[in-house]
Amino acid sequence: MTSGVRLLVLGKQGAGKGTQAVRIARHYGVPHISTGDMFRAAAAARTQFGLKAKEFMKRGELVPDDIVIGVVAERLAKDDAVDDGFVLDGFPRTRMQAEELQRLLGPGGLDAAVDIDVPTDVVLRRLSGRRVCRTCGATYHVEKPPKVDWLCDRDGGDVVQREDDKPEAIGRRLELYEQETGPLLDFYEGLGLLVIVDGVGELDDVFNRILDAVETVRQFRLSAPRGQR
Ligand code: AP5
Ligand code: MG
Repeated sequence: MTSGVRLLVLGKQGAGKGTQAVRIARHYGVPHISTGDMFRAAAAARTQFGLKAKEFMKRGELVPDDIVIGVVAERLAKDDAVDDGFVLDGFPRTRMQAEELQRLLGPGGLDAAVDIDVPTDVVLRRLSGRRVCRTCGATYHVEKPPKVDWLCDRDGGDVVQREDDKPEAIGRRLELYEQETGPLLDFYEGLGLLVIVDGVGELDDVFNRILDAVETVRQFRLSAPRGQR
């Protein structure tokens, strides 16, 4: 295990953010913070906040900024994220969220913003075939199902289709990506934090590309004079 890192992962829906963010977080020994997973867990627990978030999610709409920012700020304030770092998955998704994150972390608070770049026709195939474990969120694809009868290899939970992976919701989510989230690539490029990685290929190959890119950025920062890090 390598020492901590502060990263966020950007990319279209279905680009492989969740798949790769879990592995990157494990590699660096830092928490994986996925706003989508947090909302789905709250919805499954039927908390008031979770039920509200579910209404937006099932239509493929974004959960309002003030709610999302509050949840992320609370999570980033926990000891593990403060002490070790984090991999943010699915946050930020709007300009306001990105600006608020900068304010929360302060200058130099982020090592890199990794964009997993995948063409739209590929993400459409991935999303329509995706299946997830209802209990632990592990991800599968109809072409690579779990070993036994749609039960999760990890915890035996039911493996099902996400409500927002139905065609109407997928269309809306990708539309919102173009309008709200795509422009964040320019935002992070302007801050000198953007790293673009080709997200097409075997899972291990994409993972190694991300690690190479992140390590290059880290080495560069470590070699910079203190005031410029
Ligand atoms: P969230 O859960 O974050 O969903 P998303 O952004 O729509 O992204 P996905 O999880 O669909 O895709 P992914 O990139 O993680 O791909 P995955 O690794 O699963 O958010 C859900 C909802 O919550 C939002 O729509 C919104 O309502 C709300 N929300 C969350 N954050 C918010 C925020 N900040 N602001 C406002 N609202 C927010 O991979 C996809 C499939 O492809 C899988 O089947 C996988 O096995 C497969 N796959 C992955 N990599 C490869 C590869 N290299 N080759 C082949 N197949 C692959
Ligand atoms: Mg995801």
